[in-house]
Amino acid sequence: MYINMLQAEGRVMGRRFFLTLVIGISAGFSFAYILLTSTGFSRDTAWHNYRKSARDFKKHPIAAVGEHSPDEPAHRDEDRSVADELYKKVRVLCWVMTQPKNHESKARHVKATWGKRCNKIIFMSTEKDPSLPSIKLPVKEGRKFLWGKTKAAFRYVYKHHRREADWFFKADDDTYVVVENLRHMLAGYDTEDPLYFGYRFKRFSPQGYMSGGAGYILSRAALDRFVNKGLPNTTLCRGDDNGIEDAEMGKCLENIGVPAMDSRDELKRGRFFPLTPDVHLLRSQIKKFDCCSDHAVSFHYIEPQVMYELDYLIYHLRPYGIEHGSDTSTLPKTLAGSIATLPRRRLNNASAVI
Ligand SMILES: *[C@@H]1O[C@H](CO)[C@@H](O)[C@H](O)[C@H]1NC(C)=O
Ligand SMILES: *[C@@H]1O[C@H](CO)[C@@H](O)[C@H](O)[C@H]1NC(C)=O
Repeated sequence: MYINMLQAEGRVMGRRFFLTLVIGISAGFSFAYILLTSTGFSRDTAWHNYRKSARDFKKHPIAAVGEHSPDEPAHRDEDRSVADELYKKVRVLCWVMTQPKNHESKARHVKATWGKRCNKIIFMSTEKDPSLPSIKLPVKEGRKFLWGKTKAAFRYVYKHHRREADWFFKADDDTYVVVENLRHMLAGYDTEDPLYFGYRFKRFSPQGYMSGGAGYILSRAALDRFVNKGLPNTTLCRGDDNGIEDAEMGKCLENIGVPAMDSRDELKRGRFFPLTPDVHLLRSQIKKFDCCSDHAVSFHYIEPQVMYELDYLIYHLRPYGIEHGSDTSTLPKTLAGSIATLPRRRLNNASAVI
């Protein structure tokens, strides 16, 4: 009896306690909600902060990302022969604009992702770092001096590496590049013609200029002309180190007769993009960017962790049952011919899987 009473009282107490608790919690949440929304806080911000913390490299360094190997089931019947052939025929040197404080936080991740697909990759900085490797250019560091750094970088590439590649690509340390698509676009052009490609802004000079963030690529003849004709003549190319890098480059290349090429695909869809993929895909006011080629080459403002995500999405993940190939009809005839006669190097016999 006594025990029963206690239990009954306990139940009443329990119910009261529970009610108080519920009221308290809801009041607390409502108050916090009012307080936080009035200070601009929202669940989106909380999510954003969570992501930011989860992606803080200092707290959570990026673990080794698995290379895709021909033995993985989804890649066993992959045929890379056309890409491999283009790797040899359309050699791309990539140089990446970086700075000492970004060597660890950004440049390293470029090298670990898309950078490794360039025939050669060089990081242009103001400090030497053999692990990247980065070059210590004789220029002052800072946003103000990017034009000076760009000139010095191309001068360096010309002096030391011009014979090691056919095309010379400038990117930032937050550019993401699908190097195979870059080679595919270039396969139709002769590097002995002075040319350059990229995302074109129609400003500052009649033919405009190519966005520095989306990256731009010069033929060997364009590089030669830039270094030997443009740089020595300050009437043609700005002589000091100040100025907006890509706009100065645009003016300079125009003055020395290097045309800004149409870099869109056969459906007139853009290949180089000065912003992130989501912005180009989803924002209607950005339609003017001719979004987006299935053979897109580059995007800008890509954070290091997103480079790994893109690498996974582009090079690993496969929608099962869809074979997507390399249509050699979009290659120049000579190249397509030589590729058509290649022994098709199947990495494995598809029918032999499991
Ligand atoms: C620089 O270029 C301008 C314009 O083409 C030309 O008139 C001038 O002679 C050049 N100067 C030198 C030193 O080559
Ligand atoms: C590859 O697949 C074909 C067709 O199924 C089969 O005849 C052949 O024996 C396989 N070759 C190997 C090496 O497994």
